Amino acid sequence: MDKPIFLIGFMGSGKTTWGKKLANRLNKKFVDLDHVLVEKVGMSIPTYFQIYGEQKFRELESQTLKEQIAPDTVISTGGGSPCYYDNMAWINENGLSLYLYLSPKALHGRLSQSNIESRPALKGLQGEDLLAFIDEKLTERAPFYTQAHIQIDQINASLDTICQQIE
Ligand code: S3P
Repeated sequence: MDKPIFLIGFMGSGKTTWGKKLANRLNKKFVDLDHVLVEKVGMSIPTYFQIYGEQKFRELESQTLKEQIAPDTVISTGGGSPCYYDNMAWINENGLSLYLYLSPKALHGRLSQSNIESRPALKGLQGEDLLAFIDEKLTERAPFYTQAHIQIDQINASLDTICQQIE
């Protein structure tokens, strides 16, 4: 029985994609925190934000994160999950944390191609405004993300190198 592996990082950093691959390779259960939240409240994250606001979302997210603790799981967190309450310390005490790093420019490239409307924090942002937001938010969140046990710079990352670092 191994402690859970938590994947952390900015929106668009590939937490879900890597999480699925890792869980598959390591023969562990994959849990996507955003999906668990959506199932729990019976509505999408943008709708929840709109009705209850960000503060309530962060409370719910923190509580739900802590309910997901189980051995032999790979848990993909939301981009803001480690940055509120005591969540980053809790993650590090209860599992192995992996920070998936991408530069603001690379994140911008990916997020521009994604459905912005599904991410309430990015609502209405595009082009240079989106890049400026990512830059600012990543700077704000980096002190939390960089507390992770392992930092993966995705420029050179492969499933093999990530697994070697975990071992
Ligand atoms: C958020 C990231 C989202 C989701 C919510 C808020 C954030 O998860 O939890 O929209 O504040 O960074 P992803 O990182 O999976 O997009």
